[in-house]
Amino acid sequence: MGEYLFTQRTRDDQRIAENLSEEFSGYLVAFDAQSMYDAALEAARTQQSRVLVLDALCVVQVDTASEMNGQRFITAEIDSVLKGAPGDYGFYDAGRAGRYWFRAALNGFSGADAMTGVYASPIKNGDALVGVLVYISQVQEIYESLRDMQIRILSWMAIVAAAVLVINALVLRTITRPIGELNEGIARMSKGELSARVRVRGNNEFAGLARAFNSMSERLEQLDNSRSQFVSNASHELKTPLSTMKILIETLMYQDPLDPAMTKEFLTDVNKEIDRLNRIVSDLLTLVNIDNGMKLNLAELDIGALLQEQARRLLPLARENGIELECAAVKEPLEVSGDALKLQQVVYNIIDNAIKYTPRGGEVHCALTRSGKKAVIRVTDTGVGIPQEDLPHIFDRFYRVDKARSRETGGTGLGLSIVKQFVLLHGGTIDAKSAPGKGSTFIIELPLAEKKNG
Ligand SMILES: Nc1ncnc2c1ncn2[C@@H]1O[C@H](COP(=O)(O)OP(=O)(O)O)[C@@H](O)[C@H]1O
Ligand SMILES: [Mg+2]
Repeated sequence: MGEYLFTQRTRDDQRIAENLSEEFSGYLVAFDAQSMYDAALEAARTQQSRVLVLDALCVVQVDTASEMNGQRFITAEIDSVLKGAPGDYGFYDAGRAGRYWFRAALNGFSGADAMTGVYASPIKNGDALVGVLVYISQVQEIYESLRDMQIRILSWMAIVAAAVLVINALVLRTITRPIGELNEGIARMSKGELSARVRVRGNNEFAGLARAFNSMSERLEQLDNSRSQFVSNASHELKTPLSTMKILIETLMYQDPLDPAMTKEFLTDVNKEIDRLNRIVSDLLTLVNIDNGMKLNLAELDIGALLQEQARRLLPLARENGIELECAAVKEPLEVSGDALKLQQVVYNIIDNAIKYTPRGGEVHCALTRSGKKAVIRVTDTGVGIPQEDLPHIFDRFYRVDKARSRETGGTGLGLSIVKQFVLLHGGTIDAKSAPGKGSTFIIELPLAEKKNG
């Protein structure tokens, strides 16, 4: 923009100076000083400028300010015209022009400290250089507007810089700081401090990230707690039969004289405890396998046949406990893609529980129905039931409503947690409903195999 103003002015001055020098060519050759002076004065008056006409030796012939007549006057622009240039333009600060006479020339015209433009144009007669026309004009306003513009640009830059600083501070608040805190949280957590949480600020993506981090660390903390809980429960469960056996064996050791009948009874008890230990250990191993990402041996299974078969296996136990076990026949065969051994264990455990937690004279019913794309197994008993507050926990490891009763029936408290994991592995769900004192119903839903049941 500033550049443009200057070039515009240069071009204007150049045009005026060239016209004048053409006009003056004739006057100079004819030594018509009066016409030259009149024409120069006219141009200087209308354009508010100063016109000098120099002869070929740079002696001033005409000065519209009537100051420099007869003096020699030479500037870089005049010099380059003398050397053959078609014209030359220069800018000067009148107050700082180098030589006194030059300063005088500019000052006399524009006053101290004003920016002045000097245009030199050759005056020719044919090809011969007969003089130089010097056109001096004020460019102070242009200079000032240029300076204003520079000031404006500078202030804009200052505003932009301030905005950048503010944005930077905001970014620091909304991005850098949350990331820093998150980093710190992760570092603390990786050092094992699972209670590490980060502050959730605002409502942006970072707040979401902080929330996700917090819920992850909460989950990790829960997992860690339940793991140590599990280890302590497992140790406790293993210790119980061990202490029992120790007492039995010590009693036998200090027996004097040996009573064969008592010895046999005690050894039978020790044997039972060993069975119990075996059951706990194999249940624990199953859980460990599940935790390590157990693979299923999938095959198309007739789930109705599987249910009947497990019920048949448990018939003797039901009879022994004085329970009527009955399995409703299924009309259509329902196929499930599943692991036969695991689903057998699921069904076996559920019916086994139903028998064990039902007093003599009670009934256990199992049924298989279809609901949309699912096979639904229901095992209902008329047993002791499960109190409402225990219901949400019965699928937890080692959870038993009545410890004594469970132990008496040979339970480990791990059966239902294994059952649940197996069902989940098959993409199914398990649920329990119960009315304490009246009985319970366990409902297992398994997705039907795609092909045949569509
Ligand atoms: N059919 C049922 N009726 C009443 N209570 C049940 C039934 N099935 C399970 N329970 C309760 O759930 C607990 C957990 O079951 P489970 O994991 O199989 O352990 P357990 O080894 O004691 O049988 C049992 O101890 C019992 O209190
Ligand atoms: Mg059980």
